[in-house]
Amino acid sequence: MLKPGLVVYLHGDLGAGKTTLVRALLHALGHVGRVKSPTYTLVEPYQVNGLNLRHFDLYRFQDENEWEAAGFRDEFDGRNVCLVEWPEQAQGLVPQADWDIRFRILPEGRNIEIHANSLMGKECLTALQN
Ligand SMILES: Nc1ncnc2c1ncn2[C@@H]1O[C@H](COP(=O)(O)OP(=O)(O)O)[C@@H](O)[C@H]1O
Ligand SMILES: [Mg+2]
Repeated sequence: MLKPGLVVYLHGDLGAGKTTLVRALLHALGHVGRVKSPTYTLVEPYQVNGLNLRHFDLYRFQDENEWEAAGFRDEFDGRNVCLVEWPEQAQGLVPQADWDIRFRILPEGRNIEIHANSLMGKECLTALQN
């Protein structure tokens, strides 16, 4: 149900399962090979199943000037599906999310909530539920 331009924020503590979800999603789309955490590179690009996907991890993002310099603004021009871990680290720079996914570790298992914020986000979520 992913569409070009969809921006997904992944919220949750370290180890909550954000990267694991991205990994599973990429493999479900048909990606073969490694999906490494972009902890140091900040972003990893993928092309899979006719989609351009960008996996961000902004945990180590610090310098606002780096946003433009690294070309991150262009990544959100509507062509890519963008999955963003730690969007809070670049508040005001990362465009608004169509989906917020919240991960919580429970005494047994995990709780994951998906919130759709935009029309496109709502349409994708409805499609997923049907
Ligand atoms: N839904 C899940 N159920 C069980 N274990 C999980 C789940 N999601 C992640 N894990 C485990 O938790 C650990 C950390 O997950 P990771 O996805 O790297 O967290 P994050 O990216 O949120 O920091 C990994 O060892 C992974 O196997
Ligand atoms: Mg991670």
